[in-house]
Amino acid sequence: MSSDFRAPKGVPEYFPPVSAGFLYVRDALAAPAQRAGYGYIELPVFEETALFERGVGESTDVVSKEMYTFTDRGDRSITLRPEGTAGVMRAVVEHGLYRGPLPVKLWYAGAFFRAERPQRGRYRQLQQVGLEAIGSTAPALDAEVIALANAGFASLGLRNYELQLTSLGCAQCRPIYRELLSAFLVNCDLDEATRLRAGLNPLRVLDDKRDAVQRQLVTAPLPVDHLCADCTEHFASVCSTLDLLHVAWVANPRLVRGLDYYTRTAFEFTHSGLGAQSGIGGGGRYDGLMASLGGSDLSGIGFGLGVDRTLLAVEAEGIHLPIAPAIDVVGIATSVLSQDALIVIIQRLRHLGVCADVAYDSRSLKAGLKTADRLGARWAIILGDDELAEGQVAIKDLRTGEQVHHSNDAIEQWAPSLRWRAESA
Ligand code: HAM
Repeated sequence: MSSDFRAPKGVPEYFPPVSAGFLYVRDALAAPAQRAGYGYIELPVFEETALFERGVGESTDVVSKEMYTFTDRGDRSITLRPEGTAGVMRAVVEHGLYRGPLPVKLWYAGAFFRAERPQRGRYRQLQQVGLEAIGSTAPALDAEVIALANAGFASLGLRNYELQLTSLGCAQCRPIYRELLSAFLVNCDLDEATRLRAGLNPLRVLDDKRDAVQRQLVTAPLPVDHLCADCTEHFASVCSTLDLLHVAWVANPRLVRGLDYYTRTAFEFTHSGLGAQSGIGGGGRYDGLMASLGGSDLSGIGFGLGVDRTLLAVEAEGIHLPIAPAIDVVGIATSVLSQDALIVIIQRLRHLGVCADVAYDSRSLKAGLKTADRLGARWAIILGDDELAEGQVAIKDLRTGEQVHHSNDAIEQWAPSLRWRAESA
């Protein structure tokens, strides 16, 4: 069968059985934040375009080339969210959340939109789990945030990933460093587009992947070598706290994040099994973001973890996720008369916490058992005219073939023994 329609280009879809892995990964990445006191925030999927222009930065690829922007019916410029941090900051300011206990700790999950050139692991609709901690400059909070990201990846059994860490300096030391770097870049042989990029944000050039550019940058000044005393102390403290927490990291003094709001700590998790799209998560501190959106000047730190890419990383490492089978029991009615009684029993089982389905269109026991097998059920509940007359059901263990009869009236007693999913997860 072929349809007239296809999903939009660059948009991954997850359906069974892979979608169970998607949910598992998403929940595993979010679990550490929930255990650390982060509350959930459900953000709008679209915002005023200016929020991202001002928050994320007009010189970034994300804002200048990748936003899905449209004019709505009220003539407002609207953009599908390309990331979550700007929206969280907007919400914190708009709803005065910063007036409560600090730091404000929030986590979120969902789809984000970037009009990138699609390839494996690079999508136009991407899924992130993210968190933000706003209102504290404590370096231990930077370490907490990084450790929570690491805990998510580690809980999935991932091993072939690396945490890269650096400091990008602050409003005091960065402008001085920026001048130094700009002066250095003037003497490099760069093409017009790169020169333009350097004019908007010279740090971006440090991250250029091309050999011809990197060769010229060997002696370039690096942010970590030009930090002010406060930033040096902050970074040293983040590093030593990560060591204390046994979170392995490597210094990457050339790390530049793709979004403009970062100050001080910046980090990225990369996985070696994903080819060019190796970033499975990243984040950092942002000191001026809230003020730039019109709020008070509170510092924040956070991360965004890529659910799509983490799922690819899990596959690349051949990790078997402990995903529960979809269904415990399938009900089979072997006569027309027994059908109504069967669906009542199935509903009662569901209420009692058993995952149960019905072989609706199976006209025979054989066909019903085949359906049960295809659905991966452990048991079949069989109801025919004989069982109906005796007020019983037959329960067949599909692994052993063993069959027992139970009374319909005592369903509360035997139902708990049919919870296979919960045990095998
Ligand atoms: P980001 O580095 O732009 O940061 O995105 C975070 C993660 O989202 C990436 O490491 C990657 O795993 C995933 N990702 C990004 N773009 C794509 C794509 N086109 N296809 C698939 N996956 C993708 C942020 O978004 C920041 N808001 C993170 C943050 C929160 N910083 C501070 N707080």
